[in-house]
Amino acid sequence: MIQLENLANYQARIDGYLTEQLQAIEINDQRLFDAMSYGLLIGGKRMRPYLAYVTGDMLDIPPSDIDPIAAAIECIHAYSLLHDDLPAMDDDDLRRGKPTCHKKFDEATAILAGDSLQTLAFEIISNHDFVSIDAKAQIKLIAHLSKAAGYQGMCGGQAMDLAATDKQVSIEHLQTIHKLKTGALLQAAILMPTLCRNDLPLATYQGLQDFAAKIGLAYQVHDDIIDITSSEETLGKPAGSDVEAGKSTYPALLGLEGAIEKEQQLFQQALHALASLPYNTQNLSNFSTFIIKRAH
Ligand code: IPE
Ligand code: IPE
Ligand code: MG
Ligand code: MG
Ligand code: MG
Repeated sequence: MIQLENLANYQARIDGYLTEQLQAIEINDQRLFDAMSYGLLIGGKRMRPYLAYVTGDMLDIPPSDIDPIAAAIECIHAYSLLHDDLPAMDDDDLRRGKPTCHKKFDEATAILAGDSLQTLAFEIISNHDFVSIDAKAQIKLIAHLSKAAGYQGMCGGQAMDLAATDKQVSIEHLQTIHKLKTGALLQAAILMPTLCRNDLPLATYQGLQDFAAKIGLAYQVHDDIIDITSSEETLGKPAGSDVEAGKSTYPALLGLEGAIEKEQQLFQQALHALASLPYNTQNLSNFSTFIIKRAH
């Protein structure tokens, strides 16, 4: 398995930062707070924060300005998982090797914990004193995350995913679902750091945008593949749940071989996009390899 440079350091950094953010909350309802902590702090590969930190490092942005970006994206991601597992959505009982939030607590608490993590994301970015950008650019960060998380991003994709259950959809339609439900947030992890640099050439932004689009899609294609090829023990979430739920996935549409071929193509296209960038993109290229090889 490929080793990602500084992965453990960045994981520890974001875990510490997220813990501090939670500790700063004045507790009214202990149960809701415990469910938020459970959803946010227990497990998780922290791939989106990792991407934000290495992109920030590549662009010479102080890591202290990446902390709130990485944390906000991870809060949205954690909330999306709490809701994704609910009976009304994927109805899964296991996440990160533990009972899902609604199993550990209850449905109402899991819904509210998701809601609270979502608003916490925007609170974190709004409250941070950025050293590299002014308040106007800070609003742009908030706007970017709002779009990536909402109707035009994750939530829209989740709705389309549910609507495509037990149906045959076109490959173009499936691509749109995946780009929205998973791609938009992963893309935000790469593009939000670019908003901390107001001197970035348009071509560089576009190269990163292209890379992020390819890798964001590849992430969900691989998630679909390992749902079939891996075990519950390795995944820490139920295996075979997509087939059982009648989900529209790449393997369902193209077959397992076709899905693997598709992620290989996306991987090559991602590397091609990186080649146009005037930076050392080794970490981003290693990340691309990592996600198409990851076992969980
Ligand atoms: C799982 O995301 C859900 C998808 C969007 C594919 P991750 O694979 O990043 O899950 P964690 O955070 O590491 O558990
Ligand atoms: C999740 O897609 C996308 C989200 C926005 C959470 P999946 O439903 O495939 O994620 P897992 O497999 O449950 O982690
Ligand atoms: Mg789902
Ligand atoms: Mg799911
Ligand atoms: Mg999945």
